[in-house]
Amino acid sequence: MKLEKMFKRAVELGMQADVRDKKYFDRYFKKQKEAMKNAKGWRKDIFDEERTWNPYSDSRIINGSGKEEVKVLMVGIDIETPEVLLADRLREKGQKIDCLFIHHPEGRALADLEKSMPLQVDVLAKAGVPVNHSEGHLKPRMDKIWRSIHADNLFRTERAAELMDIPAFCCHTITDNLVWAFMEKHICSKNFEDLSEIIDALMKIPEYEYYAKKGNPPLIVNGSPTSRPGKIVATEFTGGTNGPEQQLVAQSKAGVGTILSMHVTEKTLDAAKEHHVNMIQCSHMASDAIGINLLIDKLQKEDKGIKTIDTSGFIRVKRK
Ligand SMILES: [Fe+2]
Ligand SMILES: [Fe+2]
Repeated sequence: MKLEKMFKRAVELGMQADVRDKKYFDRYFKKQKEAMKNAKGWRKDIFDEERTWNPYSDSRIINGSGKEEVKVLMVGIDIETPEVLLADRLREKGQKIDCLFIHHPEGRALADLEKSMPLQVDVLAKAGVPVNHSEGHLKPRMDKIWRSIHADNLFRTERAAELMDIPAFCCHTITDNLVWAFMEKHICSKNFEDLSEIIDALMKIPEYEYYAKKGNPPLIVNGSPTSRPGKIVATEFTGGTNGPEQQLVAQSKAGVGTILSMHVTEKTLDAAKEHHVNMIQCSHMASDAIGINLLIDKLQKEDKGIKTIDTSGFIRVKRK
């Protein structure tokens, strides 16, 4: 499969798993096209055309024309200069690697990370939080993320991939949407007596089992194994990066009993304790791996020739 085709398929699959519907995306693309048409001067020069068809600002091809034929993907949750060198070293030893599949954003996908955060409003709305509250909470947090990432050295990985001549793309919110939908279906919609039963269910998922065996199991960070779950949500699985702690309070008010998260900030944990919301910190790398696996399952269904090399926290698990 050509890189461009693979990435466009990934975007489509991300939208299919998204909590927002087709109408939302149609409106978003229409607005972006209008903004591109109306932009003048330097604003026109720097307008990101990608936004007219890809709603995921933290996911894009960061090196390559898109015309490259891709069979072997080196997949990693974090791929930075060391992993680019690893790819080059493996190639030198005879391993075929056509492209890097990166989960956590690099390059422009990282520069634009905060633009993918409004998705949190819709994820929280599904959990019962009014959109006006979530928007109010999110804006200052988005500004903070924008300022903090703005000062980073954003293009190191991209440049390393360019110099080593290895095509690369980032899929962040795309695969986080897939794991969010998976958790909604397989955990949140089920009935559990207590939190220990949720942990048992998580441990039946191969990625969590693998990481648990390595000393990185799902963790109850607030509540106890005998706590009753109440309403279970996976609101911290997608939406760019952690939201502010006010979201925790809003979810408590909306009747949420247990939140599944990839990573819990200390401020959110303090709020969870104060507002009696159970929290389970599922292994971060295992959770990210589930999303990537679900995407690769779909891509391999369309092109059986796609192969993967596991690196940087990723483990390949095939599902039917
Ligand atoms: Fe992720
Ligand atoms: Fe992650």
